[in-house]
Amino acid sequence: AGTLGAAAVQSGRYFGTAVAAGRLGDAQYTTILNREFSSITPENEMKWDATEPSRDNFTFGGADRVANHARSQNKQLRGHTLVWHQQLPGWVSGIRDANTLRAVMNNHINGVMGRYRGQIYAWDVVNEAFADGGSGQLRSSVFRDVLGTGFLEEAFRAARAADPAAKLCYNDYNIEDWNAAKTQGVYNLVRDFRSRGVPIDCVGLQAHFGSGGSPATFQTTLANLAALGVDVQITELDIAQAPASAYANTVRACLNVPRCTGITTWGIRDSDSWRASENPLLFDRGGTKKPAYDAVLTTL
Ligand code: XIL
Repeated sequence: AGTLGAAAVQSGRYFGTAVAAGRLGDAQYTTILNREFSSITPENEMKWDATEPSRDNFTFGGADRVANHARSQNKQLRGHTLVWHQQLPGWVSGIRDANTLRAVMNNHINGVMGRYRGQIYAWDVVNEAFADGGSGQLRSSVFRDVLGTGFLEEAFRAARAADPAAKLCYNDYNIEDWNAAKTQGVYNLVRDFRSRGVPIDCVGLQAHFGSGGSPATFQTTLANLAALGVDVQITELDIAQAPASAYANTVRACLNVPRCTGITTWGIRDSDSWRASENPLLFDRGGTKKPAYDAVLTTL
């Protein structure tokens, strides 16, 4: 196959990218997007600050532009993200009353998921809820601090009701190394949800890597999570300096795990990246394929 999307579909997977609505008018960007990728994640447009800037005032301008592009180009759409402590408006982070915050969280999940019901393959329902470091516990956030650790379960139950066709994912970074406490925290959460019948269908591993690429245990992490009965997806891949071998190793780990269903890079050209100074993506600033691109295509 001659494109990332076509190569990935040979094994039943997708190959996607984050898309910024503001770049869709850039012909070089859109040409590469339409040609190479089979899935789109809105980079910022479906986050809380973009979709509900004040209480019950929903604004879908940017999100609609990305969703319309995906529909017109027959691309899968990943939803990102509903409950996250960042890019969260102050009117939410300032709530101190549990009943109010519960109603606000449910209304947000219903409002955003309802808008795109039936159009989204998988939603990152909760993003980055676990703490960094050795605790393996949830991080402090308005959601945990006001609602307690049960906010995760409440969010996933509300999400299942809002769009029963969407796969519901938990998404996080630094959960790629099996030996990390944070990875164990996520594993225990998913195991608990599965054993109690709390809806969860997938785990997204962001995979924002340094130049060394994925940890040696990455495939083990993917396989162990999948063994709990969920899909796993690489949701925000970028690698500092984009070594070809590091990209190939990351892709191979996914291909070796049957329930690793797709890979998304966090942008198209290096100049589109949130880590632009590290040149971590598959296309250079001129839109030319980098050695990492060829390594990924050959590995898929
Ligand atoms: C980043 C975007 O790429 C930036 O444009 C924005 O300024 C900040 O957020 N983890 C996530 C993504 O889940 O939503 C983040 O995206 C990168 C880290």
